[in-house]
Amino acid sequence: MKEPVFVSPAEIAASKAAAKRVKDEVYGLGLTYHIESYGCQMNEHDSEKIAGMMEDMGYTKAEDKSKADFIIFNTCCIREHAEQRVYGNIGALKKRKDENPQLMIGVCGCMMQQKDSGRKLFKRFPFVDIVFGTNELHRFPLLFEEAYHGERTLQVRDMDGEIAEGLPVCRNSTFSTFTNITYGCNNFCSYCIVPYVRGRERSRNSMDIVNEVKGLALAGFKEVTLLGQNVNSYKGDGETTDFPALLRMVHDQVPELKRIRFMTSHPKDLSSGLIDAMAELPRVCKHIHLPVQSGSSRILKLMNRCYTREKYIEEVQQLREKVPEIELTTDIIVGFPGETEADFKETLSLVEQVGYSAAYTFMYSPRKGTVAATMPDQIPDEVKHDRLERLNEVQSRVLRNGNMKYIGTYGEVLVEGCDHRSEPMAYGKLSNFKMVYFPGDDSLVGSMRNVKITGSQNNSLIGELV
Ligand code: SAH
Ligand code: SF4
Ligand code: F3S
Repeated sequence: MKEPVFVSPAEIAASKAAAKRVKDEVYGLGLTYHIESYGCQMNEHDSEKIAGMMEDMGYTKAEDKSKADFIIFNTCCIREHAEQRVYGNIGALKKRKDENPQLMIGVCGCMMQQKDSGRKLFKRFPFVDIVFGTNELHRFPLLFEEAYHGERTLQVRDMDGEIAEGLPVCRNSTFSTFTNITYGCNNFCSYCIVPYVRGRERSRNSMDIVNEVKGLALAGFKEVTLLGQNVNSYKGDGETTDFPALLRMVHDQVPELKRIRFMTSHPKDLSSGLIDAMAELPRVCKHIHLPVQSGSSRILKLMNRCYTREKYIEEVQQLREKVPEIELTTDIIVGFPGETEADFKETLSLVEQVGYSAAYTFMYSPRKGTVAATMPDQIPDEVKHDRLERLNEVQSRVLRNGNMKYIGTYGEVLVEGCDHRSEPMAYGKLSNFKMVYFPGDDSLVGSMRNVKITGSQNNSLIGELV
């Protein structure tokens, strides 16, 4: 890995100064913003940084998004479907802009970083005021200031990517939150657009991470998820700190934090050091998201995943041996180019064999510029649909059976919310990421509660307070 490039303190200061100028200018106007966020947790967390910068500029979050003075779309391009939703929703704003020319509209995120996408969108939607790519996040107030003064702004730079420390963050939760440990990705799985739109993999320094997590714990957060496209390849502090070491540092130096999570883990880099750390550190959650993508070694090779079915299963066995309470979740793609019925059946049998507590399943979507998009034997949509349906059926059955073993057991839940559809049901996750619903009200949200599991329903467990 190359040494990461840090955004200079002077540049961060320039961005903060721009925010301050906007704030002075909009003082007393009561302006509001609304962020429409698509895609993964990386984007969700970037949106929290955008929110932080908006607040620095004197804007407050809109209660009613249809009345917001600034609307920004933080886009995702992982699959075609994600892109189409964004285009539809931006298009729908034209009428509102005609009625209210004061309304400002922005578009940013991964989709803007695709080749020519930003420029095309800027042309196609002349009512959009600001367009910027993932590399400009820390410069957002500078771009916003220009746009506020009536100058349409487009800023997308094709580069390896930098690390910006010290940006303000306005978090969506008061008890469970994220922090980046790496940015970008170097793996170039043949189907995936992320390395093209998020740049080269780069690791934050461990002390920046520990200090941030410490601050969060002291502010009352109970759970922090360490984020990266492939956390297992974290190499901070000039490549001297690896991921298991980072995990130990966060665990030992922030004893106030109740739960530490991380995602995503790439099977090719899952080390025995990480398995040991998970086994030894009590406040590291007993859950791993370990995307398998396919159960066929032949397809895995075409996907450039750098592991085989056998190696993956071996890793799962080691995890279960050393961390007996662990639950696994995964991502799976069906209909990758050249996937035969026999390959697909290997995916089904792997799902049965591993016993995931959740599988996020996707139909392969060709992404322009990736290797797989031009591979022969693209699979017809009907076949993809059929396989997705069959896969989801198998996964549901596996999950229902897997849930039975929890009935009669006890566990601790971090309460996330409350469902009021019939009688009030509070819900939250166990350390192992299993969702539990139990009779309870809004007053419990944000607290840790002990529950007894009494049953299971759909994908979740049912319980009661003890
Ligand atoms: N870095 C993570 C994945 C991030 S993308 C990892 O390697 O596990 C989240 C998921 O989207 C992937 O795991 C994959 O299952 C799915 N995905 C990515 N590109 C896709 C594509 N072109 N078509 C369908 N699904 C895709
Ligand atoms: Fe995409 Fe593979 Fe990187 Fe995950 S590891 S973001 S699937 S290229
Ligand atoms: Fe995430 Fe989508 Fe970008 S999945 S990294 S927001 S392409």
